[in-house]
Amino acid sequence: MHIEMKDIYKAFGQNRVLSGVSFELKEGEVHALMGENGAGKSTLMNLLTGLYKLDSGIIKIDGREMYFSGPKEAEQNGIAFIHQELNIWPEMTVLENLFIGREMSSKLGFLNTKKMKALAKEQFEKLSVSISLEKEAGLCSVGQQQMIEIAKALMTDAKVIIMDEPTAALTDREINKLFGVIAALKKNGVSIVYISHRMEEIFEICDRITVMRDGKTIDTTNIPDTDFHEVVKKMVGRELTERYPERHPKPGPIVLEVKNASKKGVFEHVGFQVRAGEIVGVSGLMGAGRTEIMRAIFGLDPLDSGDIFINGKKAVIKKPGDALQKGIGFITENRKDEGLVLDASIRENIALPNLTSFSPRGWIDHKSELEFVDLLLKRLMIKTASTETHVRSLSGGNQQKAVIAKWIGIGPKVLILDEPTRGVDVGAKREIYQLMNELTDRGVAILMVSSELPEILGMSDRVLVIHEGKLSGELSGHDATQERIMTLATGGL
Ligand SMILES: Nc1ncnc2c1ncn2[C@@H]1O[C@H](COP(=O)(O)OP(=O)(O)OP(=O)(O)O)[C@@H](O)[C@H]1O
Ligand SMILES: [Mg+2]
Repeated sequence: MHIEMKDIYKAFGQNRVLSGVSFELKEGEVHALMGENGAGKSTLMNLLTGLYKLDSGIIKIDGREMYFSGPKEAEQNGIAFIHQELNIWPEMTVLENLFIGREMSSKLGFLNTKKMKALAKEQFEKLSVSISLEKEAGLCSVGQQQMIEIAKALMTDAKVIIMDEPTAALTDREINKLFGVIAALKKNGVSIVYISHRMEEIFEICDRITVMRDGKTIDTTNIPDTDFHEVVKKMVGRELTERYPERHPKPGPIVLEVKNASKKGVFEHVGFQVRAGEIVGVSGLMGAGRTEIMRAIFGLDPLDSGDIFINGKKAVIKKPGDALQKGIGFITENRKDEGLVLDASIRENIALPNLTSFSPRGWIDHKSELEFVDLLLKRLMIKTASTETHVRSLSGGNQQKAVIAKWIGIGPKVLILDEPTRGVDVGAKREIYQLMNELTDRGVAILMVSSELPEILGMSDRVLVIHEGKLSGELSGHDATQERIMTLATGGL
């Protein structure tokens, strides 16, 4: 299939999002779409598949003008879309999620569960996914949910597959599987639009790249004719030298200490300390138990045994409220479920956990609330029409920035960051790192879980590695290398 989008315009109310974008997808190519958070990448694809209506512009498919009335029609015409925001129905089973809207039935009208199961199994095998089809989807990890979405799209026999940030929640192993599948699809003439902020991936699997900035296309190039540096420059419109700001840590006293923490079947005998002004990176494969340990510290899940000390004093943390009161903040990996109230304004989301600081006398001081929110919006370069915009309509990366803004304002003593830069563009990533440095300069202790090794290496003063629920090693920032971490993370010595 060959797709051509020409001179596309789109505004949401007063907010002009796309102004004259052109994009061409050839048969059998993997075409990267890159641009900063809010540049309009997801919107462009939503226009192609008919979720939104064009203001003006032309879409041609195989040379003929064609406009879909919605995603369903696009899918029937061979275009599948793996969305950035996962569309999992948490109360339904994995199988039900895979076939939602296209259940198969027998001649008599009964659901043909056997056939659906067989197809699902086959697809999961191709992707080396081992999730039970009967499992409640909401109980699956974010990474598993992403694999479900990928499998779902692959089962449609599409000619074009749009992948919007497909790997943000995946492990290296899952990513390799996905890349294998992409190569196979390409051989069969399937075209892929690949949206990602991970430059390494783009250069590994894509044939061409289109860069967008501020709702316009900058240009399209063949991957072999360009490099990281040039792409970043086109994206941000200026030179960006270092990916990680320099750190000058001055570790103080121990703020957080976890002793002998265990949770049956999840992690055991985990113990570590974090000092004031320190960034401790937590590495490990997806599913190693990293997030679960953080959730327990924050009081989201109970510990079976073990103790947590804050400033040398034993802390009883039974619920997030207790953790908050002790000065612990938690930026979760899953912004959709835990991080944000999507149907509240960005002002409300950022100000919510900080309410007490604007209402010392019991009523809210709206002026200082707004000043506070404004400052954070500027600092994190959050792209939004106004402070009253609902978080739901922000681009994926800007939602992530909003989660961070919300917690930074609280001024925690200990800040736990779980995948803090997932889906965030290069420029904003650097801004987040800079903020982390400022926080540690003020004595905040940071615990950062990340699946991106360069980020762990670039920002951590110490690295803890978790393997199958156990602390398999601890490395100082100087001693940490990609190889050492990977060895510990996979259980080697
Ligand atoms: N339904 C909507 N209503 C109002 N504004 C919207 C809507 N969808 C997107 N926007 C706005 O359009 C702009 C572009 O958003 P889009 O999601 O296309 O960005 P993106 O390039 O995909 O960014 P990211 O890398 O963060 O995913 C943003 O400023 C966003 O707030
Ligand atoms: Mg997007």
